[in-house]
Amino acid sequence: MSFRIQPSPPARPNRCQLFGPGSRPAIFEKMAASAADVINLDLEDSVAPDDKQSARNNVIEAIGDIDWGNKYLSVRINGLDTPYWYRDVVDLLEQADERLDQIMIPKVGNAADIYAVDALVTAVEAAKGRKKKISFEVIIESAAGIAHVAEIAAASPRLQAMSLGAADFAASMGMQTTGIGGTQENYYMLHEGAKYWADPWHWAQAAIVAACRSHGVLPVDGPFGDFSDDEGFIAQARRSATLGMVGKWAIHPKQIALANQVFTPSEEQVNEAREILAAMEQAKKNGEGATVYKGRLVDIASIKQAEVIVRQAEMING
Ligand code: COA
Ligand code: MG
Repeated sequence: MSFRIQPSPPARPNRCQLFGPGSRPAIFEKMAASAADVINLDLEDSVAPDDKQSARNNVIEAIGDIDWGNKYLSVRINGLDTPYWYRDVVDLLEQADERLDQIMIPKVGNAADIYAVDALVTAVEAAKGRKKKISFEVIIESAAGIAHVAEIAAASPRLQAMSLGAADFAASMGMQTTGIGGTQENYYMLHEGAKYWADPWHWAQAAIVAACRSHGVLPVDGPFGDFSDDEGFIAQARRSATLGMVGKWAIHPKQIALANQVFTPSEEQVNEAREILAAMEQAKKNGEGATVYKGRLVDIASIKQAEVIVRQAEMING
């Protein structure tokens, strides 16, 4: 039990985060014209070491020059274990247009990582007199990150979103796979000779959702590497949505529509949620705390479940 009211996460759609390498400015206009809610211009692992400085310059220029519409605009900086990250932060905050909304910090391992970036960002913002306070998003993609996920979620009022990064996470955990998300061949149960595949990402996802929901942060599923496999992407995204995540990354433009479809509550889901709310309204009038809807129990907790779906749909539509 707790008397503390669970904080709400930022009320903005985050169904799809489209990534593109900062070293490939030819695709920036296409990213801006896409149907993704969030744009992630990357300075980290999709950019080769020799291109770090030029990618940073491309990104800084593009933030001010390109019309990003109503997209939430984020730049993924390099990890705190590299020599690049401080210059990413300083140059972005000193030189980029105020259009920049967010910085993504990869490979966070504990709350002090966020504190360090927060201190630098706060100082540069003050020195430059920036009006918009930059928000943060982080990637949980290491054993340390998942072990400290709760303190990370609580680390800064700037923190708005947290993603699971399956590839680095698998490597850090020593998992025997080169797959980026999705079903893993060797992760199965045997029953009467038949194989049943379970979800090796489930635990990390559920831990991220719990940490995020406790602290008003948006939980997001990261990349699905095999962009030729639409069915696999949809299955992974549906599992994430069922667990409470609000969106997923796209590492190729063809994944955007798939993510938007899964993370936008369907008309059927919204209608059913509204019917449950109406049934509970009627129950309340009759002085009952529980009633029957389509042969199943609904009670006061069902109101909260239905409201999650209705609120999400309303926020996306408006
Ligand atoms: N955003 C917007 N448009 C993109 C895009 C992206 N991330 N990736 C490719 N496109 C465009 C291409 O320019 C091409 O446009 P065109 O039809 O006008 O020529 C079209 O989409 C089809 O691209 P395709 O040829 O299938 O892909 P590619 O070989 O050019 O690039 C990747 C494939 C995976 C290298 C590229 O999508 C990519 O870099 N993705 C992001 C990687 C990343 O940021 N990783 C870090 C996070 S894990
Ligand atoms: Mg990574």
